[in-house]
Amino acid sequence: MGFNSLLGAGQIGAMTLANRVVLPAMDMNLCDDGDFSAAEIAHYTARAAGGVGLIITGTGAVAWPIGACSWHQPSFSDDRHIPSIKALADSVHAAGSKLCVQICHHGKTAGVDTAQGRPLLVPSLPEGKLDLAALQDNTIDELMKLGSASRGKQAIHKEADEDDLAWVIDQFAQGANRASRAGVDAIEIHAAHGYLVNTFLSSGYNKRTDRWGGSVENRGRLMTDIIRAVRAQVGHTIAISVRLNGMEYGLQDGMTPSEAAIFALMAQDAGADAIHVSANAHNPFGDFTDGPLPSGEAQYREFARIVKKSVTIPVIAVGRISPEIGDEMITRGECDFVSMGRQLLADADLVNKLKAGQRKSIRPCINCYVCVEQNFFDAPPKCAVNPALCNEPLAQLIPAPRAKRVLVVGGGPAGLEAARIAAMRGHLVSLYEASSRLGGTAWFSQLTTPANGPLVEWLEHEVRRLGVQIFLKTRLLAADILELVPDEVVVATGAVRNRPANEHTDYAESRVYTGDDLRALLTGEGIVLSASIKTRLIAQLARLFGISRSITRVRTWSKMYLPLSKDITVVGGGLVGLELAEFLATRGRTVTVVEEQAQLGLPMAMPRRWTAVQNATRHGVQLRRSSTDVIASKDVIIANNVVAAAPIADELRTAGMLVHVIGDAHDIGYIEGAIHSAGIVAREI
Ligand SMILES: Cc1cc2nc3c(=O)[nH]c(=O)nc-3n(C[C@H](O)[C@H](O)[C@H](O)COP(=O)(O)O)c2cc1C
Ligand code: SF4
Repeated sequence: MGFNSLLGAGQIGAMTLANRVVLPAMDMNLCDDGDFSAAEIAHYTARAAGGVGLIITGTGAVAWPIGACSWHQPSFSDDRHIPSIKALADSVHAAGSKLCVQICHHGKTAGVDTAQGRPLLVPSLPEGKLDLAALQDNTIDELMKLGSASRGKQAIHKEADEDDLAWVIDQFAQGANRASRAGVDAIEIHAAHGYLVNTFLSSGYNKRTDRWGGSVENRGRLMTDIIRAVRAQVGHTIAISVRLNGMEYGLQDGMTPSEAAIFALMAQDAGADAIHVSANAHNPFGDFTDGPLPSGEAQYREFARIVKKSVTIPVIAVGRISPEIGDEMITRGECDFVSMGRQLLADADLVNKLKAGQRKSIRPCINCYVCVEQNFFDAPPKCAVNPALCNEPLAQLIPAPRAKRVLVVGGGPAGLEAARIAAMRGHLVSLYEASSRLGGTAWFSQLTTPANGPLVEWLEHEVRRLGVQIFLKTRLLAADILELVPDEVVVATGAVRNRPANEHTDYAESRVYTGDDLRALLTGEGIVLSASIKTRLIAQLARLFGISRSITRVRTWSKMYLPLSKDITVVGGGLVGLELAEFLATRGRTVTVVEEQAQLGLPMAMPRRWTAVQNATRHGVQLRRSSTDVIASKDVIIANNVVAAAPIADELRTAGMLVHVIGDAHDIGYIEGAIHSAGIVAREI
């Protein structure tokens, strides 16, 4: 696929862009006292150098610290910030891209106002209370950190009056003026995501009866006045984009795509050069995985298409858009530019790889929400699959001074990542995997979490491309490794899943399956003693017919046949247990999850956890927190009892060999832990 539409040049206002790929605004929270820091400049510059057509900075506060949601966001409120904006613009330009700064007043979410004793500016005082039920699955530590921006203080609100709004418009104008003097190419006015301008647009928040509320003209007035004021400051050499919600999930009277289309036209008439169509959800603790960070692939596609029909200026689409879908959307005229947010956090070089015909070498985002969880804590994002996020020097691998023979034991994500990095650094790497395929637990996890699949495919593609010698169905013993005399040994054999101690007492009447048993049952690989003969036979047949070789086929097949009874207890409501429970419930099983801790889903990043609990509840799963109850249903699946252990490494150490242990064998950290721990070791050997 040539990606001709996506990689073709484009125009927004006076700004010519090399291609149609946009880095949308994503808070880096790396600013020092409102100034872009060297680390934040390095982040944007890496994506510019990676070929992205337009870089949009994470949201900045026009009147910082007033109206700010973070202590670490960019500030546009004073001339003293111009040098750092200029340093960023120069750096992005030198790397061949264009720079747009996103400017905002955060209204009802301006936590810094609360911290400093100011009321939050809103169109109308909030009605009702947010449903905070999701927070029961947060630890005390997380709850404390959630109050970082507001310093844990209680918010009060103020209905904006005429003077406030005149001041807000002026602050946007002055902020834009400073950005233009610093040499940016574009300015994005943030009129989405529940911030001040958005709350004026939306009937869900704006209940006013004066000239700022009621009709679309009145609700749109703050936005259009800001656009005009900004245009008056920056002239026509600088482009203006306006970010709008195409949808407001979970909000009564919230914005709809057709209303967004009307506001888009109003923005165009007021002088905007582009509309960036995003979406939002009212309750960040409820529907965050709908908006502003959707879980569905190209979830906002239709919203962009509807807005595009109403305007003549370019439309930027966003929301889990892959290069393939993005290219198709542009080709079909559904949008003009495509923002890829998390995907560009995961791989800064996406555009260059597309241009070079290396689509399969793009490291995929796995939709895990680890990055944005940090924003809830007013901290810089981390990426589960890209340890170099916010630490760009890590992306530059230092060639090994001497090519060593590196032996990796285990072909899960940790082993594959270690092999990949070691091979890239010039080592001679061989990887041994006991099973018949690569990917380890991550491969099987696609059953319940399909987004993990592309990561496994990418890792496999990369290690093969780099010439790593791969030995499948090869279970090495310590003696074998000692005989091979490698220079370095990396053990990545995964966690050990033990059978429960109470199996023969409390669960004497049940069939008890560990995670390994479940995998063996569904793939037909290995023998599961606790399963009936009939079940084992069916599993073998599925393997013979090739069904269980593809996890996608297993997922489809499991809708018709699942070798488990109607009543299932899942012991452990962590990452695996919770997603498994939903999977089983959607296949007609009556499921009870028993979790010893007070919180469910703790290893998941918060937005994903909240959604997983909601989904399980919606599908009728019985959730028992703080419970050690024994529920002896016919089938019991042990989704806890997972321990970090590497027996082979212990044997090798006893024999005097230096061994590195990574991934779940070292510490249970799932994909994020696997990739990060592998990187630390493979960068050093
Ligand atoms: C860590 C993080 C921070 C974000 N911060 C902002 C922001 O400052 N302003 C904004 O408009 N959107 C923000 N977003 C939303 C993104 O711009 C984008 O719309 C969203 O991630 C959906 O696109 P994607 O699925 O391609 O990631 C943020 C997203 C992430 C992941
Ligand atoms: S942390 Fe997860 S969701 Fe965020 S960019 Fe990385 S892989 Fe994607």
